[in-house]
Amino acid sequence: MAKIVILTGAGISAESGIRTFRASDGLWEEHRIEDVATPEGFVQDPELVHRFYNARRAAATAAQPNPAHIALAELEADPGHEVLIVTQNVDDLHERGGSQNVLHMHGTLFGALCHSCEHRWPAPEVMSPTDSCPSCSAQATRPDIVWFGEMPYRMEEIWHALRAADLFVSIGTSGNVYPAAGFVADAMHAGVPTLELNLEPSAGRSMFDEARHGPASVLVPQWVRERLG
Ligand code: APR
Repeated sequence: MAKIVILTGAGISAESGIRTFRASDGLWEEHRIEDVATPEGFVQDPELVHRFYNARRAAATAAQPNPAHIALAELEADPGHEVLIVTQNVDDLHERGGSQNVLHMHGTLFGALCHSCEHRWPAPEVMSPTDSCPSCSAQATRPDIVWFGEMPYRMEEIWHALRAADLFVSIGTSGNVYPAAGFVADAMHAGVPTLELNLEPSAGRSMFDEARHGPASVLVPQWVRERLG
């Protein structure tokens, strides 16, 4: 049984029509990242932040998984492979592509979080700052998204899986945001072979044992076909 830990980023969902983060103008869907993806931005203008994520949620719901998501689900279904997908993405395209073992280290658009009592519940289609927490009734509802300056979820579990893996694969991520950007170094130090599949060389390219560059919808199904023989 080959244990594979797969890190995915915005690049795997790009061909499903979901925009990546690091466009050259530094804006994300016409907003400054600080305004919509930090706790400070949320305190400043919760209305704007909710509007922004409501639009992202609608876009993710309208998008369809592409051949890269689907190929990873095929790999997971193979009895010779134990696959863990660690995604930085907040869409649900891995799940809708058929993957089951998916860990959302940066949270999900489909979750709501009370920042008063930390209760979590499924997000409604449209969230607003005046929504009350179903557990403590505080009007303290935010999207269950990990913003800049916050700790990503389930890090101990991820590091444990990484150290025990037979292969680490990084797909569609620029390698700019830690701790995910450090996984290749963690794998390397644990003696785990590493592979990058990305449109272009990432910031961590020189650390990977092997790198292939091109669109995920082509590279990922190709690599999965190789694995499945
Ligand atoms: N196929 C493969 N890779 C692609 C494709 C594609 N079709 N299109 C773009 N890419 C690559 C880009 O070349 C880039 O290296 O995907 C990468 C996307 O990088 P980012 O936009 O930086 O996204 P990501 O690495 O996921 O960002 C990490 O930053 O803003 C935060 O929390 C947010 O999870 C996000 C984190």
